[in-house]
Amino acid sequence: MKKKVVMFSSNSKRRSSNSNCLVFPKWSELWNSLAEEYSGCEIWLVVQLNGRYFLDIYNGKLIDPPEAVHVEIMDMEAGLSEFVEKITELNPDVAIAMPGPVSGLDWNGLRDASIAEELSRRGIRTICYPLKTAEICFDKWLTHQFLEENGFNVAKAVYVHNGLFFAGKDDPHSTGNVYRETVLNKIKNLPFPVIIKGTTGSASAGIVVAGCYEEAEEFLVSDRNQEDMIVEEMLHGQEYGTEIHGCRGRFNVLPPFMKFTTDNEDVIDPLGLTTLKFGPMTGEKYHADELISELTRMAELMDLCGNNNLDLMLCGDKWYIIEINARWSGLTTLTACSEDRSPYAVYLDQYVGAKKDYTDLKNIRIACNFKMSGGSEQMLEKLSREEGVDSVIHYQIIRPDESSYYFNDVIIGGFDSFEEMADTLDRLQKIFPEEISADVPAAIRAKLPEL
Ligand SMILES: Nc1ncnc2c1ncn2[C@@H]1O[C@H](COP(=O)(O)OP(=O)(O)O)[C@@H](O)[C@H]1O
Ligand SMILES: [Mg+2]
Repeated sequence: MKKKVVMFSSNSKRRSSNSNCLVFPKWSELWNSLAEEYSGCEIWLVVQLNGRYFLDIYNGKLIDPPEAVHVEIMDMEAGLSEFVEKITELNPDVAIAMPGPVSGLDWNGLRDASIAEELSRRGIRTICYPLKTAEICFDKWLTHQFLEENGFNVAKAVYVHNGLFFAGKDDPHSTGNVYRETVLNKIKNLPFPVIIKGTTGSASAGIVVAGCYEEAEEFLVSDRNQEDMIVEEMLHGQEYGTEIHGCRGRFNVLPPFMKFTTDNEDVIDPLGLTTLKFGPMTGEKYHADELISELTRMAELMDLCGNNNLDLMLCGDKWYIIEINARWSGLTTLTACSEDRSPYAVYLDQYVGAKKDYTDLKNIRIACNFKMSGGSEQMLEKLSREEGVDSVIHYQIIRPDESSYYFNDVIIGGFDSFEEMADTLDRLQKIFPEEISADVPAAIRAKLPEL
């Protein structure tokens, strides 16, 4: 008897009816191969039609649904209880959460964890982190406190509660806002420059850099300060990202992947066209073993599950954690490519067990993610068939201000050396000189001597 496995992901944002998400190879091909490879499982996919990573969407509509898995499309308006009812009705052997990203408030994990908790109460086996973990990761100040209390390196930070910071201004008897005074005094004692960011945002949206105390104060007292904020010492170093895959007793943490922009911005825009990522970094200066063991300790403490993304900074020889995104992220297809497994298998392997030991670095290959703005559908498809190319994702980015644009993420991988990776970039750039900027291989090559 096959095991009935429900893989679910909710999403709180509607897609516009003309939005596209074209992936080469298609997501449906990935699902079909997964079903073939995991033939002991009857896979059900319960999702909303607005994600970017689970289904192929053309002009706002599902195209080519995978044949080998059962797809249950939930209504756009469906919330916690509708998901719980639907999954209960399916009566699965296990329900596995796959929280995905969303622009603006990065909160899909809260709903997916709540769905899992409700299902557990009904006696259904689930694989998801606890709601408490979703809450800690959703709120950057809670993340900061959790990490600090448990001995992980974090930037010095001060929390600014928006309501209290502006409280009492209409009280004629008040001699001043004591909360504001206290908070500003704490900020004065931070090392400058500082980064000011909302506690619940994503994709670097709205991040402010203040060079000195006066600039920070000017921003905070202005009407640009619209939400709870965290004011953080700006770390100076090289930024990296990595991912933690699996669940308790089955974690594997990848060594760090370098992230940088070819225009050397301080704040990396993960959706920016000039952002490049590659790795894993295993050279001595990264002391990846130590980092991996610290992050595994963190994963155990948080009881993480599925796919979890981390923003990291290496300052001298000290690793700092900037952020935990307990969800599918912009790094997921890259890390999955390094593991040579489907990103969906990262979730399913929590139930059936991984085929390889991904804690053994021999099983992790070198991969790179670069972005491209142009390219016709034919060109993207052709590119995806080139040797060394893992996938090409063409998608629409919707900014928090509702403006949108399209671009492509290209993942190349399967390399044994960075040199081999750079050669592949050169080759692809020569084949597609109009679409792939010569800056891409040049920027990567410029990094190689320092690795
Ligand atoms: N304390 C910090 N020091 C240096 N850079 C930072 C710091 N905090 C954030 N950044 C920069 O801003 C980016 C986004 O910040 P992050 O905390 O990851 O929020 P989000 O990705 O949710 O917008 C980071 O990837 C990094 O480039
Ligand atoms: Mg981040």
